[in-house]
Amino acid sequence: MSDSGVYKFIRGRLPRPCAIHASAARALAFLLVLTGALSLSAADQPIAYSHKKHIAMGLQCIDCHSMADIGPAATIPSVAKCMLCHATFGTDKPEVKKIAEYAAKGREIPWQRVYGFEKQALVKFNHAPHVRAKVECATCHGDMTQADTAQKLVNHNMGTCLTCHRQKGASQDCATCHY
Ligand code: HEC
Ligand code: HEC
Ligand code: HEC
Ligand code: HEC
Ligand code: HEC
Repeated sequence: MSDSGVYKFIRGRLPRPCAIHASAARALAFLLVLTGALSLSAADQPIAYSHKKHIAMGLQCIDCHSMADIGPAATIPSVAKCMLCHATFGTDKPEVKKIAEYAAKGREIPWQRVYGFEKQALVKFNHAPHVRAKVECATCHGDMTQADTAQKLVNHNMGTCLTCHRQKGASQDCATCHY
């Protein structure tokens, strides 16, 4: 797993010393806290993370969901990955302080899952072959570049799986998708 996208971002954005007068920076930060606070109310997650904002900064899906091209699960990034940037960026913001508190306690952020199957459906899904076959994330998850915290934008059922498997000549054996 590679953090290179995140490191490239940090190198590109670290402020040069004395680039901004400190008090001006504090005033700007205060303004951002005020505007930030207004948009937080809709979140039912422990932290008001925004996909839209982070992707607008140039981050790729794989920078955070770093197993999607190599493993069965795409994975949710650990709090340590957030802290690669948030030890430096936005440290005075209430939502970012919460991230630092989880990290300081050595706890992961308890994100609520959005997608997944009932245990009794006995489904096995694997991201990697789909990403390698160039099936876009958006085909199965909708346009996450415009989302704040994730919403279920696409329903996953046997019909949606099989329709595409038929079209693309992928396996339709029961054992491909079921234990
Ligand atoms: C590659 C760097 C980077 C990574 C990784 C990153 N962020 Fe950010 N994030 C930023 C930057 C830069 C901002 C804007 C900070 C500012 O406005 O001062 C930001 C803003 C935020 C804000 C909004 C703060 C506010 O109130 O305006 C939240 C919340 C946030 N990030 C959560 C997270 C979480 C949770 C993670 C981990 C899953 C994460 N971020 C990972 C760079 C990053
Ligand atoms: C062919 C459809 C499909 C594609 C393409 C796909 N996903 Fe998924 N994704 C799923 C399904 C189905 C689940 C639920 C899997 C489960 O719970 O077993 C899921 C779950 C997830 C999760 C939850 C955590 C996890 O690992 O289970 C994340 C995050 C995620 N996908 C991100 C991505 C990203 C990023 C991409 C593109 C790089 C992507 N997905 C491409 C179908 C897809
Ligand atoms: C800076 C890190 C970061 C980036 C970049 C990122 N995500 Fe996420 N993603 C998260 C976090 C944190 C969560 C858990 C909070 C939530 O549900 O929004 C999440 C949740 C998700 C989920 C819901 C998974 C589930 O079942 O709960 C999907 C789907 C997803 N992301 C897809 C994407 C796609 C597609 C992209 C690229 C367009 C992307 N993400 C880019 C951090 C990121
Ligand atoms: C938009 C098209 C599309 C959708 C939707 C889709 N798949 Fe696939 N699936 C593919 C393609 C293409 C492959 C790769 C075939 C290959 O590598 O030869 C694949 C491969 C797989 C594999 C690996 C098969 C193997 O031989 O290793 C599994 C498991 C799988 N899909 C399960 C699912 C499940 C479960 C769903 C529904 C939740 C789903 N797929 C939805 C296109 C899709
Ligand atoms: C390409 C993937 C795929 C293949 C192939 C597939 N299924 Fe499914 N199947 C699924 C998914 C995904 C679900 C779960 C739907 C849900 O949770 O809503 C499911 C659900 C089911 C259910 C309902 C389980 C429940 O508790 O709701 C049955 C029964 C089932 N499949 C039987 C089969 C049989 C029999 C075959 C072979 C003829 C087969 N499936 C082939 C993906 C697949």
